[in-house]
Amino acid sequence: MTDIIPFDQRDGFIWYNGQFVDWKDAKVHVLNHGLHYASCVFEGERVYNKKIFKNELHSQRLHNSAHSLGFKIPYSVEDLNKFKIETVAKQNITDGYMRVFAWRGSEKMAISAQGNKIHVAIACWPWPPYYSDEARKKGLKLKFAKYRRPSPETAPTSAKAAGLYMICTISKHEAENEGYNDALMLDYRGYLAEATGANLFLVMKNGEIHTPIPDCFLNGITRQTVIELARKKGITVNERHIKPEEFADAKDAFLTGSAAEITRISNIQDQYIYPEPDKITLGLIEDYKNLVRS
Ligand SMILES: Cc1ncc(COP(=O)(O)O)c(C=O)c1O
Repeated sequence: MTDIIPFDQRDGFIWYNGQFVDWKDAKVHVLNHGLHYASCVFEGERVYNKKIFKNELHSQRLHNSAHSLGFKIPYSVEDLNKFKIETVAKQNITDGYMRVFAWRGSEKMAISAQGNKIHVAIACWPWPPYYSDEARKKGLKLKFAKYRRPSPETAPTSAKAAGLYMICTISKHEAENEGYNDALMLDYRGYLAEATGANLFLVMKNGEIHTPIPDCFLNGITRQTVIELARKKGITVNERHIKPEEFADAKDAFLTGSAAEITRISNIQDQYIYPEPDKITLGLIEDYKNLVRS
């Protein structure tokens, strides 16, 4: 494994509440509501060739996520777009990853935190593709997770909110500890949902693409982009509730996400195995690669 410099020990600048601060000085107090009560929302975005992919959509989603948690980002979507572009320039990033996040501060440290200051930060760093082209095509090995995506009556499931990731980290760690790359989560009804940080697609034997309806998990921006790309090529994309055993009717499967981009799945708990990438998957990987750099 390559050595990774811990994220609090890097050089550069982080945009923090309206100004750039030295990377190592972008600190919070240990008593803050975001940390203790998960009142924190965030975005994960990609920079390709110095340009933020879907900048506006990510800023809008951050606003929507905050709204779901009952707070307002103190900067408009337009201002966030601009601050993010400034951060890319300040960090001199050509190809990178960006985190934009907002959280309740420290004024009150109880469940009720009405009026706590809303903090916002933007960090951007060089990040090569999450998986190499080879790994992306070779495919991941997934294990079914113990936890399920909760019902929208249980949590604000369309938000990209820190609290919703608790079960993702538990599930991913369990999968990794057993030699898998990631966990595959069902939804509260037992239908297929998504991986711990990426949406799921099945390439069916009849040449159609089927993907779960995002009615209790994130409708990923990459997911929406890939559906558009596929439909543009004349591929039928069917958004529906899918049972786990329907993996048997698929010839290939893949994940989508800002971090994962399009990454193939080759093995689901040794029950469903797709040894070779299908040409539909390979075509979409190529199309997506061209789009993000166009
Ligand atoms: C739980 C979860 N689902 C789906 C996605 C994919 O979303 P997007 O394509 O907007 O990055 C992500 C990544 O942010 C995620 O964390």
